[in-house]
Amino acid sequence: MKVCFKTKRNTEEISIAQDENILFAGLKAGLTLPHECASGTCGTCQGQVLTEDSLIDNWKDAPGKKHIPEDTNRILMCQSSCRQDTNIRVFGPLKKQNNEYPRPNYFDANMISSIRENDEVISFKLKLNKDFSFIAGQFIMLQPNTLSGWRAYSICNTKLSSDEIELVLKKTPNGGFSNWLFKYANFKKSLKAFGPLGKASLKPKSGDTDIIAIVGGSGIAGIMAVLEDALKTDHLKVNKAKVFFGLRDKEKSFFLKRLNDLVLKSENSLQVIVGYSETVADHNIKNLFPCLSFETGWIHEIALKEISSKSLLEGTTFFVAGPPVMVDKTEQKLKEELNIKPEHIRIDRFG
Ligand code: FES
Repeated sequence: MKVCFKTKRNTEEISIAQDENILFAGLKAGLTLPHECASGTCGTCQGQVLTEDSLIDNWKDAPGKKHIPEDTNRILMCQSSCRQDTNIRVFGPLKKQNNEYPRPNYFDANMISSIRENDEVISFKLKLNKDFSFIAGQFIMLQPNTLSGWRAYSICNTKLSSDEIELVLKKTPNGGFSNWLFKYANFKKSLKAFGPLGKASLKPKSGDTDIIAIVGGSGIAGIMAVLEDALKTDHLKVNKAKVFFGLRDKEKSFFLKRLNDLVLKSENSLQVIVGYSETVADHNIKNLFPCLSFETGWIHEIALKEISSKSLLEGTTFFVAGPPVMVDKTEQKLKEELNIKPEHIRIDRFG
């Protein structure tokens, strides 16, 4: 089957398989289609159907649909597939991808190991059936062979070309995939994967200097990769990084040892502030992780209280990741109160 994407200026035609996700088919074909989460949440990938009855809506209640204007015959491309040849009007740039990011593709993946970080967070490693190139900060889509729908996960590791990746997942109530993973993490199950996706990466060549990350829960995953990469490439020899990491309490903590080790390795160019939203950090945890600072409160409020626009170096880049409400509030305040330009805010919005 064929999909013909149209804007006022451009037209691009691609082939698409039966049941294939329209966004994935377009990205795999090398097009730049508007998207962010690729999982039905953000509403960025809207397209207008120009061929009647040609599409299948794969997620009727996708939260991203609240962004679709009424009576517009628009769909979310990341949640639609084709039943016949179709024409779709795209709202955003439509051109061939340049080589800034690796072109996404499909992979077969096998779970090779997992660690229960606490009772609701699991980190796990996947082995892919071929080499996988990505840039630190990107994410991948996963689909177990026995479940429908794709979920997005940030890649924690930094090796830029490898057939193994590490991911983090937080259990969500009624979350089909997270329940599946918690149940089968030790059974070497196989999954389908599509990626890499996302542009929340550090761009030193475009003038990025200091890093400020404001992240909640499993949103830390992509930042781990960005920080490790910044250390490996000596970006932190001449720039500084500050991470505000929000967790509920000591029992729900994870990755603190890894962060503590990164601070040590950075020779003071990295500072990590952990914010507990429900408790005060006790002496035990402070002694266990002496390189980290601990505060109490919502992490975006702690961060925004501490950041003053006057002290920001030109090119300071903000990374924001975590629950959608926290991400939206933080992005809004960075823009409105600190006058941070959109190109210096990198968002991981698939939470
Ligand atoms: S990219 Fe489709 S809803 Fe976010």
